[in-house]
Amino acid sequence: MSKAWKRLEYNIIGDQRGSLVALETCKEIPFDIKRVYYIYENQKGLTRGMHAHKKLQQVLICLSGHCTVHLDDGENKESIELDFPHKAIYINRPAWREIDMSPGAVLVCLANESYSEEDYLRTREEFENYIKI
Ligand code: TYD
Repeated sequence: MSKAWKRLEYNIIGDQRGSLVALETCKEIPFDIKRVYYIYENQKGLTRGMHAHKKLQQVLICLSGHCTVHLDDGENKESIELDFPHKAIYINRPAWREIDMSPGAVLVCLANESYSEEDYLRTREEFENYIKI
């Protein structure tokens, strides 16, 4: 099966003043955005994520600093560097993710659903059982 994620590189609208990236629902973002959250001031050396989602679709973008996103959908594994604000990862099926953030990094997540604890697979065991279904 193909990977549960896709790397995206957005068009940079640059001029002499700097760079701009524009994201619109159902264009650069492949879903209707229902929620935006961001992670920052992450404690040094602490890995974020360590879970998967059942149904949630997300786009991850690192706006400042850099993040390494380790992804595993049960069949495919990949570690992706988000080191520029025009790079993104679209996750559209359950994928276990672990995220290492550089000091000062800001990771923004765009999601197609509101927060729901029910949608989380919080342990590796839950994740592995879920993807077998
Ligand atoms: P969690 O998703 O576990 O964070 P991470 O993926 O960085 O490890 O969420 C951390 C806490 O924040 C948890 O108690 C749930 C809460 N939370 C919300 O209330 N709303 C949200 O949209 C998110 C993503 C988390």
